[in-house]
Order: sequence, then C-alpha cells, then structure tokens
Amino acid sequence: MNISIHNETAADIDTITQLTEAAFQHEQHSSHTEQFIVTALRRADQLTVSLVAVAGEEVVGHVAVSPVSISSGAPGWYGLGPISVWPDRQGQGIGSALMSAALERLRQLGAAGCVVLGDPGYYDRFGFEVYPGLELPGIPAQYFQAISFGGAVPTGEVKYHAAFDATE
Ligand SMILES: CC(C)(COP(=O)(O)OP(=O)(O)OC[C@H]1O[C@@H](n2cnc3c(N)ncnc32)[C@H](O)[C@@H]1OP(=O)(O)O)[C@@H](O)C(=O)NCCC(=O)NCCS
Repeated sequence: MNISIHNETAADIDTITQLTEAAFQHEQHSSHTEQFIVTALRRADQLTVSLVAVAGEEVVGHVAVSPVSISSGAPGWYGLGPISVWPDRQGQGIGSALMSAALERLRQLGAAGCVVLGDPGYYDRFGFEVYPGLELPGIPAQYFQAISFGGAVPTGEVKYHAAFDATE
C-alpha cells in the first residue's frame, strides 16, 4: 500500500473528526472525547502539527501534535496525540508512518522534545522512554514517555492544553 503524508487541509477536517471517533470507539483507556480534543486544539490554534495519511484518495490516518508546558519552565516541548487510524486499516504501518513523520516535523521546527501518553509497547519503537521526574499528574509513570531531540529531558509536571478537557 502506498501511503503519503501531508498537512491537514480544510477538506480533511470532517474525515479527521470521524476517523478519530471511530479509532477510539472500542479503546478501553479512551475518554471517547478525542475527536473533540482535535477540534478544540484546531480552534485554539494549538495544532502545531496535524498530518493526514492518505492511501489513494482516502484519508486513512491522522496525528495531532500540540504544545505542552512543563512546570520547570523548559521550553519547546510538545505532546503527540491523539493519533488515529481507521479500525479496518490498523496494523498496516499507517500509524508508524504518521509517528515518524510527526517526529521529523517537530525536529524540523526546532522542538526540544515530545511527550506521549499511551501504551509503552507501541511508542518504545519510536524512541520514547519513561523518564522518572517528568510526570503527567494522575497517570501511572509507565504510560507517560518522552523523547528528546538533543538536550536533556527536563523534570517537572507536564500540562497539556485546555483543549484536552473538551467534551463536545
Ligand atoms: C495506535 C494506532 C494509531 C497504530 O496505528 P497502526 O496503523 O495500527 O500501527 P502500525 O500498523 O504502524 O503498527 C502496528 C504495530 O503496533 C502494534 N500496536 C498497535 N496498536 C497498539 C497498542 N495500542 N499497543 C501496543 N501495540 C500496538 C501492533 O501490534 C503492530 O505491532 P508489530 O509491528 O510488532 O506487528 C492505531 O492502532 C489506532 O488508531 N488505535 C486506536 C486509537 C489509539 O489507541 N491511539 C493511540 C493513543 S493516542
């Protein structure tokens, strides 16, 4: 399957919403609000990276990246997610292509690093690791990982944008 990755366009927005809802529908650890989060990030102009994966003419996956703040004041950190692939397209490498492209984009932007909340078994392969001392309050340490693009990984509490509280 030939997958291309490009920045979201206005024409992709409805599909991104639908595919995000569908991807998380049966996920046990989901809030089932991920589609609202993506929309709220876009409205707040916080979608630093919003990439779609396209197969043929069809949008088959999406990844969002937004700025996070760290209590130590360390600048240049971002949070990756939500990331979504249509359920019937999962396991075909689309998520991996989106992950690599999003991290590459952040490097190009001069980001210091990126955090991710989710299954460590999936994110390890992209270079994410647990860093004791860099915490997302309320989340068990093993589910919160980071990757640095050069410097040391800071310590402190990480805060995602208020858009992550969106429920509609
Ligand atoms: C997570 C997700 C984006 C991965 O996309 P994908 O296109 O299926 O991923 P890929 O095909 O590139 O990679 C598949 C590999 O990841 C593994 N994998 C997929 N989802 C996983 C998960 N939640 N935990 C651990 N491993 C996972 C697969 O077993 C497979 O492993 P293998 O390469 O060793 O066979 C996709 O499964 C999805 O949309 N899931 C529902 C939404 C979600 O949970 N998003 C992540 C939280 S923000």
